[in-house]
This record gives sequence, C-alpha cells and structure tokens, in this order.
Amino acid sequence: MLAGKRILLIIGGGIAAYKCLDLIRRLRERGADVTPVMTRAAEEFVTPLSVSALAGQEVHRDLFDLTKEAEMGHINLSRVADLVLVAPATADLMAKMAAGLANDLASTLLMATDTPVMIAPAMNVRMWDHPATQRNIKTLMSDGMGFIGPNEGDMACGEFGPGRMSEPLEIVAALETRLTAGPLTGKRILVTSGPTHEPIDPVRYIANRSSGAQGTAIAEALRDLGAEVVFVTGPADAARPTGVHVIEVESAREMHKAAHAALPADAGIFAAAVADWRVASASASKIKKTKGGLPVLEFAENPDILAEISQLSDGRPALVVGFAAETDDVVENATAKRLRKGCDWIVANDVSPSTGIMGGSENAVVLISDDGAESWPRMGKTEVARKLAQKLAEKLAQALSS
Ligand code: CTP
Repeated sequence: MLAGKRILLIIGGGIAAYKCLDLIRRLRERGADVTPVMTRAAEEFVTPLSVSALAGQEVHRDLFDLTKEAEMGHINLSRVADLVLVAPATADLMAKMAAGLANDLASTLLMATDTPVMIAPAMNVRMWDHPATQRNIKTLMSDGMGFIGPNEGDMACGEFGPGRMSEPLEIVAALETRLTAGPLTGKRILVTSGPTHEPIDPVRYIANRSSGAQGTAIAEALRDLGAEVVFVTGPADAARPTGVHVIEVESAREMHKAAHAALPADAGIFAAAVADWRVASASASKIKKTKGGLPVLEFAENPDILAEISQLSDGRPALVVGFAAETDDVVENATAKRLRKGCDWIVANDVSPSTGIMGGSENAVVLISDDGAESWPRMGKTEVARKLAQKLAEKLAQALSS
C-alpha cells in the first residue's frame, strides 16, 4: 500500500536510531521511496553509510550545501514528499519543532514542509514525563502532527515506562493508514468533545462528568477513514487524539467561537457535553466566605452550538450530528431534541449513573434520523465511533451522488 509513496525520513539522535535501518528496509519492501535526512547527533548512533546503503539514496545532512541547494533546495526536499516521518523523534527535536526553530537541516525541513508530518518519539521515560516535553506534545498535537507511539517497556537506559520508539512494523502500519485514501479523504469534519468549565471565580468552576472518551474515539475513527478532523475539546481527561487538529477550550462560549471558526466543514459531530448555563457574572477575584451569608449565583444561558450550526442558512455542514445525553425516556426526548435543534442525526444514550456510560469505556446508543430510531447493542466507545464514522462516510457519499 506504500508503493510509489515518497517518505522523507528524518532520523534524530537517539539510541533508537538503530531501528531506522530495519524501518527503511520495511518501507522499501512495500515499494516506498525513502529519502533520509540525519541530524548530527543521529550520526553518533548509525552511520550515514549504512543509512544510504539501505535507502538506496544519499543521506542529506547539511543545511548549507550549496551544490545540493543548486540541484534541490531544502524547501523543495521537504515538499516533494508525500509524508515526513521523524524517527526517532528525540525530546530535543520535538522541542525544536514545537518552538518553530530552524537551525539545522532537519528542523528547517520540518518548518518548511507543507506535507503531513508523523513522529515516532523515543526518549528516556523521565524525559517523556517532563513537563516541558508534555507541553511540547500538546503543541505538536494541536499543530496536527501525527504521533506513533511511544510504547511502554524496558528501555536501553535500564528504566521502564513510556518512551520506547514503536517497532518498525508498527510505524509502517501507521504510515499505511495515513497514506491510504479512505472514504473520507478530502473531507473536513468538525468534532466537539469533552466537558466545558464555566467559571464561578478564578479558582472555582461548574463542570460535568464527561471524560471526552467518545468524542476522542470519533475523531480517531474519522481520521482513520482519511478525514481532516478539527477537534475542539473542553478540559477532558481522555488523551488527545493524534493526527488531527486539536483546539483546546475551557468554556461553552470559547467552544462556540472555536466551532464557528472551524467552518466550513463537510460534517459536524457535536459530542461535547456543553454546559447549558454559565454564571452570569463570574467574579474576577476569589469569592470569600462572609459570616452568615451564602453566595448567590445567577445564571445566564450559553449559546447552543449544535442548534446554531444546524440552523445556519449559509455554510451549514452537509451532515450535522448531535448527541443526546438523557436519563429518562431516552428515545422520546432525543427524537424531540433532533427536531428542536435541527440536526440530521442524534446519537442518544442513557447516562443514568447505573449504566456506567458517562466516564466509562462502553456505550449503548440509539441513532435517530429521518429513518427512525436504530438501537445499537452495547459496545466499546471505539466500536461506536467506527460504526458512526462508517455510516457518516456512506451518508456523505450518498449526498454527493444524489
Ligand atoms: N450542545 C451544544 N451546545 C450547548 C448545549 C448542547 O452544542 N450549549 C449539543 C451537545 O454537544 C449535544 C447536544 O447539543 O450534541 C445535546 O446536548 P444535551 O446536553 O443532551 O442537550 P441540551 O440541549 O442541553 O438539552 P437538555 O439539557 O434539556 O436535555
């Protein structure tokens, strides 16, 4: 499936660089063309000679190589590829990417490229867990970089934990998924996810129990079918999906703004548990206890993002999908909600505490559309997401052909 695909492979300087030799072999076995770039540090771990022998091409190493600049400038080198793969992506390389530095060939290529970038991180577990790396991961994810791994396991340094580079075959599989055209290739889809936090004062807020797991799984399923996903998430517990454009927000009003800014889109899936109300005037300073008195909170209604986007006369996505979190009369309430909001589909679920759905890993949903109510058996949130993404792809294809 990689036949004819051009991969620009940037090899960072870490012990896992040795795995690149096997990786290059695996990629070439599948018909990919691999153009290798090595950082100075990478050359301490594997020799340019071995890399170029396996790639069947010379290794690019220098930013200021005027002969090469005349033949193929570094900007061009980064653009002719179908995908840029950074493996191993060291903590240092990731920090440079997150900061937008361009002070050697690898970082300059990464800044200059307009093709998708996937990175396979590899580093010591403490470096992975370090707040600076965690900050950089967030930035890179929201810049739309695809992450492959890292895996958890024994490390060359003798420690155990996340930070081991994915195995060559896992990297190959991730590239195949990314580069194979799927039914949603060329489609842009907005997904909202997670809870919102509505401030009371600088330290307190009103929230809900949404973990963001279902929205995250949906974003990943859409990505796997080839969609370009814009993922607007509130402060959710679930790890952010990789390979999608992540926009972090806190409140319903911020989510409202970000969702509109993400349009136009071919479809919108509104999986977020948006707070219906906010505190009308959040206090700018911490509310203090006063003897005998209790604070009185006044509420104001938040904008209904789903209803607004469903009812846009101009720029409405072709398919708008809402969720209905209900505790009673699930189908009746959700059917009425679909009509009230003006969306095409409602994915209804029973979030009564006894179901364990909110915050859990499974979901039992009823899909409500023009065709009526379709009950799906209880299944993992990942399966719900895959089934929904598949149905959405079929619907968009039908809409195009009719
Ligand atoms: N929703 C939204 N903006 C809001 C409230 C809800 O976009 N301000 C979306 C949710 O993302 C979900 C759908 O509307 O897709 C339904 O959310 P739900 O909380 O079930 O419905 P509500 O409109 O809040 O109605 P109620 O609380 O009365 O059941």
